[in-house]
Amino acid sequence: MSEQDAQQKDMASKAHADVHQDESDAAQGTTRLKIFRGDAEGGSEVEYEIPNIEGMVVLDAVLYIQAHQAGDLAVRWNCKAAHCGSCSAEINGKPKLLCKTRVEEYEGQEIRVHPMRAFPVIKDLVSDVKWNYEVARSTIPFQSDEQAPFIMYEEDVERLYEPKKCIECFMCQDVCHVLRTHHKHPEFAGPRFFVRNQWLEMHPKDTQSRLEYLKEGQGGIGYCNITKCCTEVCPVNIKITDNSIIPLKERVADEYYDPAKWLMRKIRGRRSPKTGAVVGRNGNRNGG
Ligand code: SF4
Ligand code: SF4
Ligand code: FES
Repeated sequence: MSEQDAQQKDMASKAHADVHQDESDAAQGTTRLKIFRGDAEGGSEVEYEIPNIEGMVVLDAVLYIQAHQAGDLAVRWNCKAAHCGSCSAEINGKPKLLCKTRVEEYEGQEIRVHPMRAFPVIKDLVSDVKWNYEVARSTIPFQSDEQAPFIMYEEDVERLYEPKKCIECFMCQDVCHVLRTHHKHPEFAGPRFFVRNQWLEMHPKDTQSRLEYLKEGQGGIGYCNITKCCTEVCPVNIKITDNSIIPLKERVADEYYDPAKWLMRKIRGRRSPKTGAVVGRNGNRNGG
């Protein structure tokens, strides 16, 4: 094994390590956590007690419980560095990355950890997020008449950076009342996919239009009433409402509610706002 491989293995093993015994020994007092234990059939909170260790994040606490008190406690995680988006769950009813949330933030409060509520639970803290990948498949992909690498204006490139920061934690989907409370999954793509569609729509080299999908197809952007809850929970600070949803809504309004465009559409049929080519209906999540 090369020295670099050995270093990487060492880093990985530290990232995945359980709380060390010496850290446990130095702990000052204890904290209680209530964690949902159950599956799709139902479940309830179970209370656990962990040692207070400085700097401990809620994922550390859950892994401590898994290592010492409940070996069958299910939790999904991967990077432990707020990069992979795997450890999304809810703490006291709010979506959080477990690896980015310190236990000390809840000093003097109850800590109740549950799986994300907008998706079916598989087991304990693990929810089934595969619906999001179905939405991803229904998104009209990037298509260009040109071959990469593209030459683009700097301001166009800068506008594309923010949506690309998404780590697909799906916490914005979880907090959105259209999904969480009204269960509009079949007809609403959700904020994560408005971010994705904004990237595609604003890419100067893309030739497709997604406005029909967003307004009349299963994008369902009309359900969004710009409450900004999605922006508040985004761990990478994407301004989802201001920079993705509002610009998309403006484009939809220009396309559908401009009387001159409406008349032209009646006469000439629906055309791509980007290329002027005649386009068919699109937006069926099943690919129709
Ligand atoms: S702003 Fe729109 S997409 Fe975001 S949480 Fe509110 S309703 Fe949902
Ligand atoms: S937009 Fe933000 S909150 Fe939504 S999935 Fe991406 S990173 Fe997570
Ligand atoms: S484990 Fe990767 S984001 Fe938390």
